[in-house]
Amino acid sequence: MPGDVEAILGLQWGDEGKGKVVDERAAGAAAVVRFQGGANAGHTLTIAGAGFALHQVPSGALRDGVLCVIGAGCVVDPLRLRAEVQVLADQGIALGPERLLVSGRAQVVLPWMPDVDAAEEVLRGRSPVGTTRRGIGPAYAAKAGRWGLTVGALAQPQALRARLDTILPWVERWIRAVGLPAPGNEWISALAEAGAWLQPFVGDDLTAMAAARGRGRVLLEGQLGLMRDPDRGCYPFVTGASILPPAALLPAGARVIGVAKPYVTVVGEGPLPTEASAAAADRLRQLGGEFGATTGRPRRCGWCDLPALRYAALATGATHLAVTKCDLLPALDAVPVCVAYEGYDERLGYPGPEARGGVRPVYEEWNGRVAPEAFARRLAEAIGLPLAFVGLGPGRGESICLEPLGDAATEQISAR
Ligand code: IMP
Repeated sequence: MPGDVEAILGLQWGDEGKGKVVDERAAGAAAVVRFQGGANAGHTLTIAGAGFALHQVPSGALRDGVLCVIGAGCVVDPLRLRAEVQVLADQGIALGPERLLVSGRAQVVLPWMPDVDAAEEVLRGRSPVGTTRRGIGPAYAAKAGRWGLTVGALAQPQALRARLDTILPWVERWIRAVGLPAPGNEWISALAEAGAWLQPFVGDDLTAMAAARGRGRVLLEGQLGLMRDPDRGCYPFVTGASILPPAALLPAGARVIGVAKPYVTVVGEGPLPTEASAAAADRLRQLGGEFGATTGRPRRCGWCDLPALRYAALATGATHLAVTKCDLLPALDAVPVCVAYEGYDERLGYPGPEARGGVRPVYEEWNGRVAPEAFARRLAEAIGLPLAFVGLGPGRGESICLEPLGDAATEQISAR
């Protein structure tokens, strides 16, 4: 419906299958907006047997006519974005300025920031975050310190030169402080060239979103999951900016679809109270193909954690639940589900890293051989959210979209 806004957010540690939910919901939508993060994202979409890997481009890219917006809260790596748009073009998905808009207020991931990200991980010694090393943390740190470069400035040669004059002395100090050699001039020309490429795509995300709402539904595509949120997640094992959409993008009455798998996976470090034994994790990893879409790292695997999901539902303001990968449940047979913790005061919310080791999950075994929809419904009831979506495979259409989602649900159910 025109005017509708729907946010699709991860309730776990990321990789919940949000890209697939967004792709399904993007049928007939006007726009898909990314509002946070950068090239650390990794969404893999399978359409008619072909795989598409999206990192910075919103998951609406694979639906004709849907405007893809990279919003003001994002950090954009222009060189990687150009390469991603080129790969999509080679796969037959042409994203010209009429399909892709990048906010002039978004920040630029400067070419040296991935190296700083990697060097800072080494400085953290025995307690690294396990970042994707895509420069996300440094880009948000520079933004907060008022040393960042906006996409708007990058795309105007004069503004770029003036801004570089201001920030370069600081850049050099930071780079030396983490033990890296000062960068040469070659990255300045690479930036200028990337800015020229980006220029036709630059616009204002809020204005574009308001116009798109007049045409149809707008989706806000979340990145990572609540446990990687710097305020509500497992700090310091988090990403550089909140995973929650800003109020300006989320009008009253918007749907917030929280996405979860019937088990959990983690790339990177940090506490995972329901981590499975090595053998069980290996089985989950093979069954679910749980390897990082951006880094290829094997994901840590564990069991579904209801206290964590309830906390994430509260923190995200989720109005509906989507459960993905339910087609794997029969192979799991008896599925451990953590229903409570022992040794933890739940008034403190979800256990952070300081509680590590002192928390014992209490498990129930749920039958994985019931109909996937029945399993997902039991999960939704346990969390207290209406079930809106059940994922049954990686391919487009391998899902059930349920009645609470209104118009699009009706379309999909009749198409089954
Ligand atoms: P950063 O966002 O690269 O700084 O990484 C911060 C934390 O978030 C690390 O533990 C990463 O592994 C994790 N992370 C970043 N992007 C993703 C993602 O797309 N899926 C899952 N985890 C992610």
